[in-house]
Amino acid sequence: GDNVMARQHRHGIELEGACEASLACSTCHVYVDEPFVNRLKNPVEEEEDMLDIAPALQPNSRLSCQII
Ligand code: FES
Repeated sequence: GDNVMARQHRHGIELEGACEASLACSTCHVYVDEPFVNRLKNPVEEEEDMLDIAPALQPNSRLSCQII
């Protein structure tokens, strides 16, 4: 898919995604900047579950592999 993680890879930004966007890890955890966070679709339940166990969770935390 053409998600943020893929785009960042194209731009040479190294962002780990251990499970290849299958929502089985939280290694792609990112903080979304305030102006953008409200423009994203709400996370699906599986993403919420993974975020719950991600370290240093913040209100603007998302899994970057799920941001389209
Ligand atoms: Fe594993 Fe995003 S790469 S949840």
